[in-house]
Amino acid sequence: MRYRRCAALFVELDEQPRFDIGEVFAGGDGIVRSPRWLAHAPHLDEPVVVKPAQLDLLGQVPADDFTELGLLRKRHGAAAIDDLVRLGLLIAEKEEFSERARRDEAARDVPWWGPALLAQGAGAWEHVDIQSRYKAGMMPNSEQLVEANGPAPDHEYLRMPAGQALPLPRPATTSFDSLLRARRTCRNFDPEAALSAADLSTMLYRVWGAQGAKQLAPGAVAVKKHSPAGGGLHAVEAYLLVRRADGLMPGIYHYLPHQHALERLKDLADQSAGDLLYRFVGGQEWFRDVPAIVIMTARFDRLFWKYRRHAKAWRVLHLDVGHLSQTMYLSATDLGLGAFVTAAINDREIERELDLPPLREAALAIVGFGPRGSERVNVELDDFVPNPLTRSLMAQ
Ligand SMILES: Cc1cc2nc3c(=O)[nH]c(=O)nc-3n(C[C@H](O)[C@H](O)[C@H](O)COP(=O)(O)O)c2cc1C
Repeated sequence: MRYRRCAALFVELDEQPRFDIGEVFAGGDGIVRSPRWLAHAPHLDEPVVVKPAQLDLLGQVPADDFTELGLLRKRHGAAAIDDLVRLGLLIAEKEEFSERARRDEAARDVPWWGPALLAQGAGAWEHVDIQSRYKAGMMPNSEQLVEANGPAPDHEYLRMPAGQALPLPRPATTSFDSLLRARRTCRNFDPEAALSAADLSTMLYRVWGAQGAKQLAPGAVAVKKHSPAGGGLHAVEAYLLVRRADGLMPGIYHYLPHQHALERLKDLADQSAGDLLYRFVGGQEWFRDVPAIVIMTARFDRLFWKYRRHAKAWRVLHLDVGHLSQTMYLSATDLGLGAFVTAAINDREIERELDLPPLREAALAIVGFGPRGSERVNVELDDFVPNPLTRSLMAQ
């Protein structure tokens, strides 16, 4: 059997108090406060605890070429090498098609900027269920937040002493202002209504559709859409999870922005489409009734093809998704549909269901849209106190 060192690894000195049952048996309160080294390796699901000597040893094992296990054991000691294998920091040649080997391969092939790779690997969720956290009393309300953390930093952020601000002229108002004013996050969808084929098509074209492309060089094509995108790359893909839409079976589809067409990836029974949707949005019960969601994924291989190991590129992709989200909100508002965006998503489950190539493509956010329900059960930000300027503009 031959092994090599994983491609990427980042070390954190962890001093957070943690629970250890062994401490209880030793007569303590169960809380361990001693610092420990955590190795974050993006090909692993969880960080692993390491000792400095293990990191030193790891540095002596080749990362590019595989080495016979016998030789590694002879050079460095069998127990020490076997520990690194057990931790998953040495990867066997025969693992080739395993999930973690695919992740490790992507960390080699895609010219990631290291800290972004770390955050991408460490920030993914699996099996998070916000509804059950509410039920277990694990989600503090605003009063409890203030009690625990003190008041939030002020909502009006002054940089100069009060009273010195320069007043600006009265803003113009056009029909665009009515659209902006009507936009809000919907958490009350009609549990029965379906999306009309026309609305769905309009939403997809306006938000994720391409108006054209420009060849910058053979092999390098910039894309034109209604929202801006860093480098003209438009490395964000749209996957549609349909529950109720006229003319479409419940299932998962991939949108083709240049053809304005859908690739049908997976059929689902209505019930399982609903369950999947609920799991994708991390158990946010208030989004369960939406007839369709769009999962926005980022293609890191396309991004880093241009911005190789670039410190700003990962940030650009998140901004791209934000722009698409706002275009989506405005388009939905224009069509009289409710809409939402969420970044609280179970990325790992989405990755598996959509069969995304790990660390080359991953979900960044989910948006949903559809007819609003007649009842307001869940909170929406429509009962705010308008400031005097907005009040006078609205009265116009
Ligand atoms: C990046 C981002 C993530 C969000 N995530 C969630 C979320 O997980 N759950 C949710 O109910 N709302 C989410 N929202 C919606 C915000 O709560 C909402 O925009 C905010 O309360 C202001 O309300 P408005 O959109 O109606 O103006 C998110 C919004 C943004 C921009």
